[in-house]
Amino acid sequence: MRSFRPTPVPSSEITAEGVFLRRRAFLRAAAGTAVGLGLPGCSDAEQAQARPGEAPLLKPLTGVIPGPKELQADDPPTAFKDASSYNNFYEFGTDKSDPAAHAGSLRPRPWSVAIEGEVGRPGVIDLDDLLRPHTLEDRIYRLRCVEAWSMVIPWVGIPLAAVLKRFDPVSKAKYVAFETLVDPEQMPGQRRSTLDWPYREGLRIDEAMHPLTLLAVGMYGKVLPNQNGAPLRLVVPWKYGFKSIKSIVKIRLTARQPRTTWQMENAREYGFFANVNPEVSHPRWSQARERRIGEWGKRPTLMLNGYGEQVESLYRGMDLREFY
Ligand code: MTE
Repeated sequence: MRSFRPTPVPSSEITAEGVFLRRRAFLRAAAGTAVGLGLPGCSDAEQAQARPGEAPLLKPLTGVIPGPKELQADDPPTAFKDASSYNNFYEFGTDKSDPAAHAGSLRPRPWSVAIEGEVGRPGVIDLDDLLRPHTLEDRIYRLRCVEAWSMVIPWVGIPLAAVLKRFDPVSKAKYVAFETLVDPEQMPGQRRSTLDWPYREGLRIDEAMHPLTLLAVGMYGKVLPNQNGAPLRLVVPWKYGFKSIKSIVKIRLTARQPRTTWQMENAREYGFFANVNPEVSHPRWSQARERRIGEWGKRPTLMLNGYGEQVESLYRGMDLREFY
Protein backbone atom coordinates (compact mmCIF):
# COMPACT_ATOMS: atom_id res chain seq x y z
CA MET A 1 0.00 0.00 0.00
CA ARG A 2 1.22 3.42 -0.80
CA SER A 3 -0.15 6.41 0.98
CA PHE A 4 0.47 9.79 -0.47
CA ARG A 5 2.32 12.77 0.76
CA PRO A 6 0.61 16.07 1.34
CA THR A 7 0.91 18.47 -1.56
CA PRO A 8 3.95 20.73 -1.44
CA VAL A 9 1.81 23.76 -2.18
CA PRO A 10 -1.20 24.32 0.02
CA SER A 11 -4.70 23.73 -1.22
CA SER A 12 -6.03 26.01 -3.68
CA GLU A 13 -9.18 27.50 -4.71
CA ILE A 14 -7.16 30.21 -6.21
CA THR A 15 -9.83 32.68 -5.51
CA ALA A 16 -7.84 35.76 -6.26
CA GLU A 17 -9.47 38.31 -4.05
CA GLY A 18 -8.57 41.13 -6.40
CA VAL A 19 -10.29 39.38 -9.25
CA PHE A 20 -13.42 38.93 -7.22
CA LEU A 21 -13.47 42.46 -5.97
CA ARG A 22 -13.00 43.76 -9.50
CA ARG A 23 -15.63 41.36 -10.76
CA ARG A 24 -18.05 42.34 -8.02
CA ALA A 25 -17.71 45.92 -9.19
CA PHE A 26 -18.10 44.70 -12.77
CA LEU A 27 -21.26 42.79 -11.96
CA ARG A 28 -22.72 45.76 -10.14
CA ALA A 29 -21.99 47.88 -13.18
CA ALA A 30 -23.36 45.21 -15.49
CA ALA A 31 -26.54 44.95 -13.45
CA GLY A 32 -27.28 48.50 -14.44
CA THR A 33 -26.99 47.76 -18.15
CA ALA A 34 -29.02 45.52 -20.42
CA VAL A 35 -26.40 42.88 -20.90
CA GLY A 36 -23.30 44.33 -19.32
CA LEU A 37 -20.92 43.68 -22.18
CA GLY A 38 -17.78 45.38 -23.30
CA LEU A 39 -17.35 47.62 -20.31
CA PRO A 40 -14.12 49.55 -20.56
CA GLY A 41 -11.45 48.67 -18.07
CA CYS A 42 -12.49 45.06 -17.60
CA SER A 43 -9.80 42.45 -17.59
CA ASP A 44 -9.80 39.65 -20.12
CA ALA A 45 -11.33 37.32 -17.58
CA GLU A 46 -14.20 39.69 -17.14
CA GLN A 47 -15.01 40.18 -20.78
CA ALA A 48 -17.09 37.05 -21.15
CA GLN A 49 -19.70 37.46 -23.82
CA ALA A 50 -23.33 36.55 -23.35
CA ARG A 51 -24.93 34.94 -26.37
CA PRO A 52 -27.52 36.98 -28.23
CA GLY A 53 -30.75 37.21 -26.31
CA GLU A 54 -29.23 35.66 -23.24
CA ALA A 55 -28.86 37.47 -19.96
CA PRO A 56 -25.56 37.12 -18.19
CA LEU A 57 -25.63 35.57 -14.77
CA LEU A 58 -25.80 38.34 -12.26
CA LYS A 59 -25.85 37.37 -8.65
CA PRO A 60 -24.27 38.06 -5.32
CA LEU A 61 -20.88 36.50 -4.95
CA THR A 62 -20.97 33.86 -2.28
CA GLY A 63 -19.23 30.70 -1.26
CA VAL A 64 -15.79 31.85 -2.31
CA ILE A 65 -13.13 29.57 -0.91
CA PRO A 66 -10.08 31.72 -0.24
CA GLY A 67 -6.86 30.43 -1.64
CA PRO A 68 -3.28 30.86 -0.57
CA LYS A 69 -1.74 34.24 -1.36
CA GLU A 70 1.20 32.81 -3.28
CA LEU A 71 -1.12 31.08 -5.73
CA GLN A 72 -3.23 34.16 -6.20
CA ALA A 73 -0.29 35.96 -7.73
CA ASP A 74 0.89 33.06 -9.87
CA ASP A 75 -2.40 31.70 -11.00
CA PRO A 76 -4.48 34.32 -12.76
CA PRO A 77 -7.58 33.11 -14.63
CA THR A 78 -7.04 31.96 -18.19
CA ALA A 79 -8.32 34.40 -20.81
CA PHE A 80 -12.00 33.77 -21.54
CA LYS A 81 -11.28 33.57 -25.26
CA ASP A 82 -8.85 30.68 -24.66
CA ALA A 83 -11.14 28.86 -22.22
CA SER A 84 -13.99 29.08 -24.73
CA SER A 85 -12.10 28.27 -27.92
CA TYR A 86 -9.69 25.47 -26.91
CA ASN A 87 -12.04 22.70 -25.84
CA ASN A 88 -12.62 18.99 -25.68
CA PHE A 89 -16.22 18.11 -26.47
CA TYR A 90 -16.29 15.15 -28.84
CA GLU A 91 -20.01 15.55 -29.48
CA PHE A 92 -18.92 18.45 -31.71
CA GLY A 93 -15.72 17.00 -33.15
CA THR A 94 -12.30 15.92 -31.97
CA ASP A 95 -10.24 19.02 -32.73
CA LYS A 96 -9.81 21.62 -30.00
CA SER A 97 -11.42 24.23 -32.25
CA ASP A 98 -14.43 22.08 -33.21
CA PRO A 99 -16.63 22.74 -30.14
CA ALA A 100 -16.50 26.52 -30.51
CA ALA A 101 -17.11 26.19 -34.26
CA HIS A 102 -19.99 23.71 -34.11
CA ALA A 103 -21.69 23.90 -30.70
CA GLY A 104 -24.08 26.61 -31.86
CA SER A 105 -26.55 23.86 -32.74
CA LEU A 106 -26.94 22.86 -29.08
CA ARG A 107 -30.15 24.17 -27.50
CA PRO A 108 -29.50 24.61 -23.77
CA ARG A 109 -33.12 25.50 -22.94
CA PRO A 110 -35.56 23.99 -22.27
CA TRP A 111 -33.43 21.34 -20.54
CA SER A 112 -34.35 18.66 -18.08
CA VAL A 113 -32.27 16.35 -15.96
CA ALA A 114 -33.27 12.86 -14.78
CA ILE A 115 -32.22 11.95 -11.25
CA GLU A 116 -32.65 8.25 -10.74
CA GLY A 117 -31.41 5.05 -9.14
CA GLU A 118 -30.76 4.77 -5.41
CA VAL A 119 -32.70 7.85 -4.32
CA GLY A 120 -35.89 8.19 -2.33
CA ARG A 121 -37.35 10.73 -4.74
CA PRO A 122 -36.35 9.99 -8.33
CA GLY A 123 -37.69 12.12 -11.14
CA VAL A 124 -37.12 14.27 -14.18
CA ILE A 125 -36.77 17.91 -13.36
CA ASP A 126 -36.56 21.03 -15.49
CA LEU A 127 -33.13 22.59 -15.10
CA ASP A 128 -34.50 25.91 -13.89
CA ASP A 129 -36.49 24.10 -11.18
CA LEU A 130 -33.39 22.15 -10.28
CA LEU A 131 -31.44 25.37 -9.80
CA ARG A 132 -34.14 27.54 -8.21
CA PRO A 133 -33.62 26.69 -4.51
CA HIS A 134 -29.86 27.16 -4.72
CA THR A 135 -27.58 30.15 -4.51
CA LEU A 136 -25.01 30.21 -7.26
CA GLU A 137 -21.42 30.27 -6.06
CA ASP A 138 -18.15 31.41 -7.59
CA ARG A 139 -15.23 29.03 -7.58
CA ILE A 140 -11.94 29.63 -9.33
CA TYR A 141 -10.51 26.19 -10.04
CA ARG A 142 -7.55 24.90 -11.95
CA LEU A 143 -8.55 22.42 -14.66
CA ARG A 144 -5.79 19.94 -15.55
CA CYS A 145 -6.45 18.00 -18.70
CA VAL A 146 -5.04 14.50 -19.01
CA GLU A 147 -3.30 15.78 -22.17
CA ALA A 148 -0.95 17.84 -19.96
CA TRP A 149 -2.38 21.28 -20.52
CA SER A 150 -4.25 23.29 -17.93
CA MET A 151 -6.36 26.37 -17.39
CA VAL A 152 -7.65 28.40 -14.46
CA ILE A 153 -11.36 29.02 -14.76
CA PRO A 154 -13.78 31.07 -12.66
CA TRP A 155 -16.84 28.83 -12.55
CA VAL A 156 -20.35 29.68 -11.42
CA GLY A 157 -22.31 26.77 -10.00
CA ILE A 158 -23.75 24.90 -7.07
CA PRO A 159 -22.23 22.12 -5.03
CA LEU A 160 -23.35 18.77 -6.43
CA ALA A 161 -23.96 17.58 -2.85
CA ALA A 162 -26.69 20.16 -2.30
CA VAL A 163 -28.56 18.95 -5.38
CA LEU A 164 -28.16 15.24 -4.62
CA LYS A 165 -29.40 15.65 -1.05
CA ARG A 166 -32.72 17.02 -2.30
CA PHE A 167 -33.43 13.67 -3.94
CA ASP A 168 -32.78 11.69 -0.72
CA PRO A 169 -29.97 9.26 -1.61
CA VAL A 170 -30.47 5.91 0.14
CA SER A 171 -27.70 3.98 1.88
CA LYS A 172 -27.18 1.74 -1.16
CA ALA A 173 -26.01 4.76 -3.17
CA LYS A 174 -22.24 4.26 -3.39
CA TYR A 175 -21.55 5.91 -6.75
CA VAL A 176 -22.99 8.59 -9.00
CA ALA A 177 -23.15 8.09 -12.77
CA PHE A 178 -23.61 10.97 -15.21
CA GLU A 179 -24.65 11.03 -18.85
CA THR A 180 -24.52 13.67 -21.55
CA LEU A 181 -27.36 14.36 -23.97
CA VAL A 182 -27.60 12.12 -27.04
CA ASP A 183 -29.05 14.01 -29.99
CA PRO A 184 -27.12 13.81 -33.26
CA GLU A 185 -29.22 16.64 -34.64
CA GLN A 186 -27.93 19.03 -31.98
CA MET A 187 -24.57 17.30 -31.55
CA PRO A 188 -23.19 16.59 -35.01
CA GLY A 189 -20.19 14.67 -33.68
CA GLN A 190 -22.62 11.98 -32.54
CA ARG A 191 -23.40 11.13 -36.17
CA ARG A 192 -20.10 9.29 -36.08
CA SER A 193 -19.19 6.59 -33.60
CA THR A 194 -16.07 8.35 -32.33
CA LEU A 195 -17.16 7.32 -28.82
CA ASP A 196 -19.86 4.96 -27.60
CA TRP A 197 -22.47 7.65 -26.91
CA PRO A 198 -23.66 8.91 -24.51
CA TYR A 199 -20.52 10.32 -22.92
CA ARG A 200 -20.52 8.84 -19.40
CA GLU A 201 -18.73 9.68 -16.21
CA GLY A 202 -18.86 8.61 -12.60
CA LEU A 203 -17.76 9.48 -9.10
CA ARG A 204 -17.71 7.63 -5.83
CA ILE A 205 -20.42 9.02 -3.56
CA ASP A 206 -17.93 10.67 -1.17
CA GLU A 207 -16.27 12.40 -4.13
CA ALA A 208 -19.66 13.51 -5.41
CA MET A 209 -20.60 14.85 -1.98
CA HIS A 210 -17.30 16.68 -1.48
CA PRO A 211 -17.80 20.44 -1.14
CA LEU A 212 -15.33 21.17 -3.98
CA THR A 213 -17.41 19.19 -6.49
CA LEU A 214 -19.48 21.60 -8.50
CA LEU A 215 -22.31 21.49 -10.98
CA ALA A 216 -21.42 24.47 -13.13
CA VAL A 217 -23.92 26.57 -15.06
CA GLY A 218 -21.63 29.47 -15.85
CA MET A 219 -18.09 30.70 -16.11
CA TYR A 220 -16.54 34.16 -15.95
CA GLY A 221 -19.83 35.39 -14.50
CA LYS A 222 -21.84 34.38 -17.58
CA VAL A 223 -23.92 31.41 -18.61
CA LEU A 224 -21.78 28.55 -19.88
CA PRO A 225 -20.90 28.81 -23.54
CA ASN A 226 -22.23 25.76 -25.38
CA GLN A 227 -18.72 24.53 -26.08
CA ASN A 228 -17.96 24.47 -22.35
CA GLY A 229 -20.88 22.18 -21.57
CA ALA A 230 -24.05 24.25 -21.46
CA PRO A 231 -26.31 24.24 -19.70
CA LEU A 232 -24.96 22.03 -16.91
CA ARG A 233 -21.57 20.40 -16.43
CA LEU A 234 -19.61 18.77 -13.70
CA VAL A 235 -16.37 20.26 -12.34
CA VAL A 236 -14.14 18.08 -10.14
CA PRO A 237 -10.96 20.12 -9.79
CA TRP A 238 -8.62 17.45 -8.38
CA LYS A 239 -9.35 15.05 -11.27
CA TYR A 240 -8.27 15.13 -14.90
CA GLY A 241 -10.53 17.26 -17.05
CA PHE A 242 -12.27 14.34 -18.74
CA LYS A 243 -14.18 13.66 -15.49
CA SER A 244 -15.89 17.03 -15.95
CA ILE A 245 -18.76 15.77 -18.08
CA LYS A 246 -20.66 18.36 -20.11
CA SER A 247 -24.31 18.95 -21.03
CA ILE A 248 -25.62 16.53 -18.39
CA VAL A 249 -29.09 15.04 -18.80
CA LYS A 250 -28.93 12.12 -16.37
CA ILE A 251 -27.61 11.63 -12.85
CA ARG A 252 -27.99 8.09 -11.54
CA LEU A 253 -27.03 6.98 -8.05
CA THR A 254 -25.84 3.39 -8.09
CA ALA A 255 -24.68 0.61 -5.79
CA ARG A 256 -22.00 -0.51 -8.26
CA GLN A 257 -19.19 1.42 -9.87
CA PRO A 258 -20.47 2.76 -13.19
CA ARG A 259 -18.65 2.39 -16.50
CA THR A 260 -17.15 5.59 -17.81
CA THR A 261 -16.50 6.63 -21.39
CA TRP A 262 -12.72 6.74 -21.32
CA GLN A 263 -12.43 3.54 -19.33
CA MET A 264 -14.65 1.88 -21.91
CA GLU A 265 -12.43 3.29 -24.68
CA ASN A 266 -9.12 2.31 -23.12
CA ALA A 267 -9.05 1.01 -19.57
CA ARG A 268 -5.27 0.74 -19.53
CA GLU A 269 -4.86 4.45 -20.17
CA TYR A 270 -7.83 5.91 -18.31
CA GLY A 271 -9.00 4.79 -14.89
CA PHE A 272 -12.18 5.37 -12.97
CA PHE A 273 -10.55 7.67 -10.41
CA ALA A 274 -8.45 9.80 -12.78
CA ASN A 275 -7.02 11.84 -9.93
CA VAL A 276 -4.39 14.32 -11.06
CA ASN A 277 -1.14 12.66 -10.07
CA PRO A 278 2.25 13.85 -11.31
CA GLU A 279 3.81 10.62 -10.03
CA VAL A 280 1.71 8.29 -12.17
CA SER A 281 2.48 8.67 -15.86
CA HIS A 282 -0.05 8.11 -18.57
CA PRO A 283 1.22 5.05 -20.50
CA ARG A 284 2.18 7.33 -23.40
CA TRP A 285 3.42 10.48 -21.64
CA SER A 286 4.51 11.90 -18.32
CA GLN A 287 2.05 13.73 -16.08
CA ALA A 288 4.81 15.50 -14.13
CA ARG A 289 4.43 18.85 -15.92
CA GLU A 290 1.75 20.81 -17.68
CA ARG A 291 1.41 23.73 -20.07
CA ARG A 292 -0.88 26.42 -18.78
CA ILE A 293 -2.83 27.71 -21.77
CA GLY A 294 -1.69 31.24 -22.55
CA GLU A 295 1.76 30.73 -21.02
CA TRP A 296 5.14 29.74 -22.40
CA GLY A 297 6.97 26.80 -20.98
CA LYS A 298 5.72 24.25 -18.54
CA ARG A 299 5.10 24.16 -14.82
CA PRO A 300 5.09 21.23 -12.43
CA THR A 301 1.78 19.46 -11.99
CA LEU A 302 0.65 19.41 -8.37
CA MET A 303 -0.54 16.28 -6.58
CA LEU A 304 -4.33 16.20 -6.80
CA ASN A 305 -4.00 19.38 -8.87
CA GLY A 306 -3.11 21.27 -5.68
CA TYR A 307 -6.31 20.33 -3.84
CA GLY A 308 -4.66 17.63 -1.71
CA GLU A 309 -5.30 19.42 1.54
CA GLN A 310 -9.02 19.20 0.91
CA VAL A 311 -9.36 15.78 -0.69
CA GLU A 312 -6.48 13.47 0.18
CA SER A 313 -8.46 11.98 3.07
CA LEU A 314 -10.84 10.48 0.48
CA TYR A 315 -8.02 8.21 -0.71
CA ARG A 316 -6.27 7.34 2.53
CA GLY A 317 -4.89 3.81 2.38
CA MET A 318 -5.51 3.45 -1.36
CA ASP A 319 -2.69 2.73 -3.77
CA LEU A 320 -3.12 5.47 -6.34
CA ARG A 321 -1.03 3.58 -8.88
CA GLU A 322 -3.53 0.77 -8.77
CA PHE A 323 -6.58 3.02 -8.55
CA TYR A 324 -5.55 5.50 -11.25
N1 MTE B 1 -17.95 16.00 -21.78
C1 MTE B 1 -18.52 15.49 -22.89
N2 MTE B 1 -19.85 15.28 -22.90
N3 MTE B 1 -17.81 15.21 -24.00
C2 MTE B 1 -16.45 15.37 -24.04
O1 MTE B 1 -15.82 15.07 -25.08
N4 MTE B 1 -14.44 16.10 -22.82
C3 MTE B 1 -13.84 16.11 -21.48
C4 MTE B 1 -14.63 16.99 -20.51
N5 MTE B 1 -16.05 16.77 -20.64
C5 MTE B 1 -15.81 15.89 -22.88
C6 MTE B 1 -16.62 16.22 -21.76
C7 MTE B 1 -12.45 16.53 -21.50
S1 MTE B 1 -11.34 15.42 -22.16
C8 MTE B 1 -12.02 17.71 -20.96
S2 MTE B 1 -10.36 18.07 -20.82
C9 MTE B 1 -12.98 18.72 -20.49
O2 MTE B 1 -14.33 18.35 -20.76
C10 MTE B 1 -12.68 20.02 -21.20
O3 MTE B 1 -13.52 21.04 -20.71
P1 MTE B 1 -13.39 22.50 -21.37
O4 MTE B 1 -13.54 22.33 -22.84
O5 MTE B 1 -14.48 23.33 -20.77
O6 MTE B 1 -12.02 22.99 -21.00
